[in-house]
Amino acid sequence: MSVQIVIDKVLNAFQKISVQDFVEISNFNTKSGFYNLKEKSKIGKNGHFITSPEISSIFGKAILNQFLEKNKNISQVHLVELGPGNGYLTFDILEELLSQNIKILSLTLIEKSDFFKKKLEKFNYINNFQILSDIKEFQHKDDELVFIYSNEFFDTFGHKQFLLENNQFLEIVIRKKENSYCLSKIKSAESDFLKSEYNCSNFLDGDILEYSPLIDYFLKDLKNTIKKFYFTTNDYGYVQYPKKSTLRAIKNKKKISLFDEFESVDYSFSVDFKRLSNNFLPYKTDLISQSSFLKKYVPKYFANDTSHEIKLIKNILSGLEGHEMGNVFKNFTAYNI
Ligand SMILES: C[S@@+](CC[C@H](N)C(=O)[O-])C[C@H]1O[C@@H](n2cnc3c(N)ncnc32)[C@H](O)[C@@H]1O
Repeated sequence: MSVQIVIDKVLNAFQKISVQDFVEISNFNTKSGFYNLKEKSKIGKNGHFITSPEISSIFGKAILNQFLEKNKNISQVHLVELGPGNGYLTFDILEELLSQNIKILSLTLIEKSDFFKKKLEKFNYINNFQILSDIKEFQHKDDELVFIYSNEFFDTFGHKQFLLENNQFLEIVIRKKENSYCLSKIKSAESDFLKSEYNCSNFLDGDILEYSPLIDYFLKDLKNTIKKFYFTTNDYGYVQYPKKSTLRAIKNKKKISLFDEFESVDYSFSVDFKRLSNNFLPYKTDLISQSSFLKKYVPKYFANDTSHEIKLIKNILSGLEGHEMGNVFKNFTAYNI
């Protein structure tokens, strides 16, 4: 069943659908959702968009060097990647760990797309390898360190959108009128909760707040399941609320407008790093731009006069020469060790 048919069914039954559910169906519907569609290539040079680990293994080196700086003299570790996609980041991290004689106790990939799960079977040669859809299924001894890493994972989670009007947060929903789709606003039972969670005085009438209960639940499960962790993630996002919609729809490397098309469209939001950090309280967290992160953890690529190819890669990843990845993208870490 196509994405549009599923959405129309929900609209027929309930007359409205939240932005969060619209995005979750579009991205993850069993057969037709963007991440489950059978295509030759989804992410990468020939896909709909490209990500840092697909551009260069410099990225994986930086992630591992940061981990080793914070975890000196470790001899063994469990690896957990969230949303690995094609698995390039794990591939690069495995190579680096093996070259440093650090024992991999287990490798777990948390991936809910059936399309990518098939591709990830290539890691079957690793001892204690598993692909899970749900972090709650992960098992380990509580005193063993788990290195949890991801890239562009949280931006794919559906977010709810709210509009401030007369001191109330109204939820933005999607409706269908005379065969065309439109945005509408409704009273929300979550308004008081949002006012207490987000300082309402920061918002003016007409401002938009994006909130993802799905990310809150995911992180709660992660913290309940894994006792001793070092967590790092790179994504695009903010600390100051943008107060407008950050929802993006991408098809074949081009931004398209909401409702232009329904099939084979990747939807994503900017990540709220302030909330991510609050989710990890009382543990210590850090946030730096992807550009500073790369300069710090793979300095030799920035210090040397390098080949044209390396120069291009480093400019894209770090945001030099106007590429957006280095500045809009951030590196977030949290650890309880
Ligand atoms: C934008 S892609 C990034 C893929 C890869 N990390 C990269 O950088 O190339 C997002 C990935 O996260 C996965 N994903 C999103 N939400 C998920 C969830 N709640 N549980 C497991 N996997 C999820 C998607 O299926 C997809 O593989």
